[in-house]
Amino acid sequence: MKIFPTIEAMAFMVMLFLASCNPKQQQNTTAGNEIDTLAIMQRGDSIANAMQEVLLQNVMHATKKGGPVYAVAFCNERAMPLTDSLSGEYKCKIQRISDKYRNPANKPNENDEAVLLKMKSSNPVKPFLGNENGKTIYYKPIKIAMPACLNCHGAEGKEIAMKTFAAIRQKYPDDLATGYKEGDFRGMWKITFSEK
Ligand code: HEC
Repeated sequence: MKIFPTIEAMAFMVMLFLASCNPKQQQNTTAGNEIDTLAIMQRGDSIANAMQEVLLQNVMHATKKGGPVYAVAFCNERAMPLTDSLSGEYKCKIQRISDKYRNPANKPNENDEAVLLKMKSSNPVKPFLGNENGKTIYYKPIKIAMPACLNCHGAEGKEIAMKTFAAIRQKYPDDLATGYKEGDFRGMWKITFSEK
């Protein structure tokens, strides 16, 4: 099956390209720095939004094509490579991090845990800029924004059909990513820029 089945997904790829991962050159004035911070926040935001759209398009398309069990298998195979390939192409690292992770590759490191705590206690939850090893990082909250998320992240046997739940357990024996309700904080995008 094709990775980007729709024109819309291709359009988002173009958006991603426009939202290049290299933050602008630093300027040495306070106003310059403020503008720079704003520009980095905006760039991170457009990359996260575009990436989110691509994943959403893909999961919706897979669900329509083969139902939730098929979509779980599809996410299992495609979510990481899709994210990684865009990370590589645009020279920034794009990740999804969650304290209640499904894929252990999305487990928070020590820094991420602190950011997750800070983010969760911000009201309303908001994005943050940070850095790791001298690299600028943009973090953006991910919420359970629509009822469709609950088909795979809600209550087992209720929103998550037993057949879907079995498929999830088979691919992810240590899954933590169930029991959510609509509107819940689910995790965050972490966009690590290639330059400081
Ligand atoms: C068809 C089932 C399905 C649906 C619907 C679904 N997800 Fe997921 N979700 C998964 C699977 C499977 C993974 C693990 C992907 C992987 O292996 O990288 C995952 C992973 C994630 C992650 C990465 C963190 C982690 O736990 O590994 C986030 C964040 C996430 N989902 C949020 C959402 C949101 C928000 C929605 C609704 C817009 C949604 N999901 C809808 C199945 C689904």
